[in-house]
Amino acid sequence: MTIDYRPNFLLGIEEITNSSIPFLINTMPLINQAKAIIQNNWRDGFSIPTAKLYPFQWNWDSGFVSMGVSHYDISKAMEEINFMFSGQWENGMLPHILFHSEDETSYFPNFDFWESSVNAGAPDKPKSSGITQPPVFGFVLEEIFNKYPDDPKVIDFIKTLFPKLVRYHNFLYQHRNPQGDGLFFIFHPWESGRDNSPLWDDSMNRIQIDKDKLTQYTRRDTQVADASERPTQEQYDRYVYLLELGKKFQYDGPEIAEQSPFLIQDCMMNSILIKSNDSLIKIGKQLGFDTTQLESWQALSKSNFSEKFWNEDLGFFVCYDQRAGRQILHKEIGGIIPLFANVASKEQAKKIATYLQDIHNRGYYLCPSFNIDSPLFDSKRYWRGPVWPQMNWMIYRGLLNYGYDELAEIVRADLIELVSKLGFYEYFESEKNKLNFISKGYGGNNFSWTASSIISFLMQE
Ligand code: GLC
Repeated sequence: MTIDYRPNFLLGIEEITNSSIPFLINTMPLINQAKAIIQNNWRDGFSIPTAKLYPFQWNWDSGFVSMGVSHYDISKAMEEINFMFSGQWENGMLPHILFHSEDETSYFPNFDFWESSVNAGAPDKPKSSGITQPPVFGFVLEEIFNKYPDDPKVIDFIKTLFPKLVRYHNFLYQHRNPQGDGLFFIFHPWESGRDNSPLWDDSMNRIQIDKDKLTQYTRRDTQVADASERPTQEQYDRYVYLLELGKKFQYDGPEIAEQSPFLIQDCMMNSILIKSNDSLIKIGKQLGFDTTQLESWQALSKSNFSEKFWNEDLGFFVCYDQRAGRQILHKEIGGIIPLFANVASKEQAKKIATYLQDIHNRGYYLCPSFNIDSPLFDSKRYWRGPVWPQMNWMIYRGLLNYGYDELAEIVRADLIELVSKLGFYEYFESEKNKLNFISKGYGGNNFSWTASSIISFLMQE
């Protein structure tokens, strides 16, 4: 496979010269494009996901980017993570957005709308949002540790970061798990990283908006991206409503669990927490940290996981709507992530692998973000059907965990093909036959996590 797809901005980018790896050489242009994109999105110590649409530092984006960057520039990767943790709150929360530059006023909801100062433990600088995102940094740290086990600079960095990560997980167990089952809740769809997934429709539709009580606001996303690829206005009003509810209770008050109409235990986020716990336990043991607390959290989370999230009729992992007291019965991409966390049984993993194989056989790129057989599936609209790069990376690893190597390879190859054909977009069409009619991906272009996922796929050992 030889791909030459060089955009103009590639000029001056360093070439990889390791001629002993033929596959790498063949795909070199793609890797170099990916590096160039991250370089262009670099802002004095951290990356933004993409200019215009997302001009700040995003939490889980930052995790995936630092993992990709660690393949060729470990200092930069550590800097990115340090910048992220400079925004950690005293209660341990790691915000979903850090607004390092306060003069960038074109984004909504901006730092002044979030008003994180309502919480006395939120740093004044950088300003931040008041919610979190999937807790990826534990496993990111393990990836870095495994790559540089003997580098004293890296070990120092990990030792400094380790307690901060434990504090972050502590926040999830203390402030987001009043029921004590070790599976934390979210109160805003943006926390899940899968903003407008059909998963949240019923819970969001319960929210009755009184327009007179909602603070007036102007959306910015639809000015910089195609509205047909973005959440609807009704959805956006509810996002703002939940933001204001969180703010009212300083973003960490117990009233949130009592009053939020949106209260979900997300299968994907809890899988990622378990995966990150596991990484921290491994690293902690090797570096001489006390891991007792992590181990007892981990045992609790794991013991309740299947009971809460597995649905035998669907043969799939699902989310749990705590407010309604029931599972959310949809096959959605987050339900595949338990494989990444090694928390699925062999039988469960087999059902999920069969589901993916079937989608592949029916002419779809892996992995569509929502069940292709559902009337709610929409191959173009954000989290309602398209393929997302960083999800492919986690699913790839998950399938390898359970010995589905060939399927894993399809997941990897599909992303590489999509990016080669359509560019480094935020997310992609999942129906193969639609590629005859389109020439680009969806959402923002020159996207950092797309670039870093390609790097992680092409530069892995
Ligand atoms: C969107 C995505 C979210 C991501 C953010 C920045 O909000 O849904 O997962 O972190 O964009 O890329």
